Amino acid sequence: MTDFDNLIIDSIGDLKRTHDCGALTLKDTGSEAVLMGWVNTRRDLGSLIFIDLRDRGGITQVVFDPLVSGEAHEKAQVLRNEWVVAVKGVVEKRLQENPDLSTGQIELKVSQVKILNRTETPPFQVDGAVDASETLRLKYRYLELRRPQVFSAFFKRHMIASSIRQYLNNEGFIEVETPFLTKSTPEGARDYLVPSRVNKGMCYALPQSPQLFKQLLMVAGFDRYYQIVRCFRDEDLRSDRQPEFTQVDLEMSFVDEEGVMAIFEGMMQKIFREILAHEVALPIKRISYHEAMDRFGTDRPDMRFGMEIKDVSDIAAKSDFKIFKGALESGGKVKAINVKNGGGYFSRKKIDELSSFVAGHGAKGLAWIKVTEDGWQSSLDKFFGPEDKALLVSRLESGPGDTILIAADREKVVNDALGALRIEVARRLDLIGGGYSFVWITRFPLLEYNETEKRLEAVHHPFTSPLEEDLQYLDDHPDKVRARAYDLVLNGAEIGGGSVRIHNTALQERIFRILGISQEEALIKFGFLLEALKYGAPPHAGMAIGFDRLVAIMAGVSSIREVIAFPKTTSATCLLTDAPSRVDEAQLRELGLRPDML
Ligand code: AMO
Repeated sequence: MTDFDNLIIDSIGDLKRTHDCGALTLKDTGSEAVLMGWVNTRRDLGSLIFIDLRDRGGITQVVFDPLVSGEAHEKAQVLRNEWVVAVKGVVEKRLQENPDLSTGQIELKVSQVKILNRTETPPFQVDGAVDASETLRLKYRYLELRRPQVFSAFFKRHMIASSIRQYLNNEGFIEVETPFLTKSTPEGARDYLVPSRVNKGMCYALPQSPQLFKQLLMVAGFDRYYQIVRCFRDEDLRSDRQPEFTQVDLEMSFVDEEGVMAIFEGMMQKIFREILAHEVALPIKRISYHEAMDRFGTDRPDMRFGMEIKDVSDIAAKSDFKIFKGALESGGKVKAINVKNGGGYFSRKKIDELSSFVAGHGAKGLAWIKVTEDGWQSSLDKFFGPEDKALLVSRLESGPGDTILIAADREKVVNDALGALRIEVARRLDLIGGGYSFVWITRFPLLEYNETEKRLEAVHHPFTSPLEEDLQYLDDHPDKVRARAYDLVLNGAEIGGGSVRIHNTALQERIFRILGISQEEALIKFGFLLEALKYGAPPHAGMAIGFDRLVAIMAGVSSIREVIAFPKTTSATCLLTDAPSRVDEAQLRELGLRPDML
């Protein structure tokens, strides 16, 4: 039993909250106000007791003065951090202003206080820097969410969603909900399955996206659909991936890629203007997938800085350096980046670290050249003739003081390694800077070869339309076929993707065949879509934004977990509820499952 167990908890009674704790200013001086919230901090100076009262609106300094109310002052003596109180009093100008608070010029002189609840000692201090371990913070997530700086990201999330809804409503979109208990949608991850009790031995799949339903809504003539919707994907988790996440999903009829891109450009301009007072310059730049790979080694380039990748295979071919020659002879590439003024940074140790870094991306090594006034400082020096040296330096727009980093391998490995290295070096040298850099990536390959499964796969999903001019390659050179697909990239993160869809059954069936999906399998999996396409499907296109990723960038946080109220860990567990959890045998039996099946 603690000292406080016998404490009487007051009821709110007839007290009505007049303001939130961030609202009062000098204008309110002299007026009476009622605030309710949590004790953020308490200072007892003997004659006067101060508390900082906190709610989601902010913090107000509240003063208990026995000369104003002896009873309130006495009650204030027992208050502790995180107790819940209601206070009534008069707003007064503060003697010592606090410029860090919106209410920093005033304080509330309390005439009446009600203790609405007390608390156990919290597992970590709500008021304070991020101190506790992530495990503890996720277990007591509701306490972490009480922190004003944490709450502010959720307020931003709400404002962005509300602004998007307003925009789409004005553009003639209607919000329609689609099923969660459904069939598999092929977005490339594993499904979360839900066994059916009524239909034993059968499962629903939670949707990886509303893709098929939104296409059906186009066949239904809904014309412009949107939904801010949860999607479920069982995949390896990272800081930008959660097993359930939210999309701003939309689909439009009688438009091509231009129509969809224009809607999203308008949406980005509106939300960045309204929420961040940032002007997004339109139209957003577009580059093809191939250009993105060539210049940045990735299809989600961060274009806030340069350091672009340059192909130097032709120059390397003339050198006597065995590793370069070997890579080129086996069909690979030699590519490089130039780090402006990198000379001072790249000690032996740093280069070793970066060699290990690129090894993590599959590259066998990292060659380097320090460009100086007197020539190259590099073990490559003796392998290149003077003309080729000059050519290489000029291709990379390099100069004295710069460092050139070179990788040689299969093209995919070189792109992966240098693409990642470009970001790593920019981070280390603090070259990334602020701002928002949008870019559309277009003309993705339609299909890619899955080495493990030895078959072709759709890069986006199998309902994506090929470019008409590439249809001729579909049977003999499927790798050459480009898709009418587009991704939106912001600061190096893929925040959205979409495509023009196939609205003709014959072409859809042909794509399934090329993907090795038999007619029978296609009928089982997507028969309803193929059927629907036969009944006057209009041309249609759409896209989905990863809402959590967008909000995380706009809120300036590094992980989407910070903008999801109750996120999962990277091992897909919820530390707060302990999900997933065992279920009792009776429940399993009802579903036709045995415990040893799990
Ligand atoms: P896609 O699979 O590209 O497209 O998904 C759209 C966007 O959703 C975000 N995203 C995720 N965010 C958090 N956690 C995840 N596990 C996760 N997976 C994806 C990304 C991605 O760009 N049906 C199509 C859209 C369409 O064609 O209209 C689709 O779902 O930001």
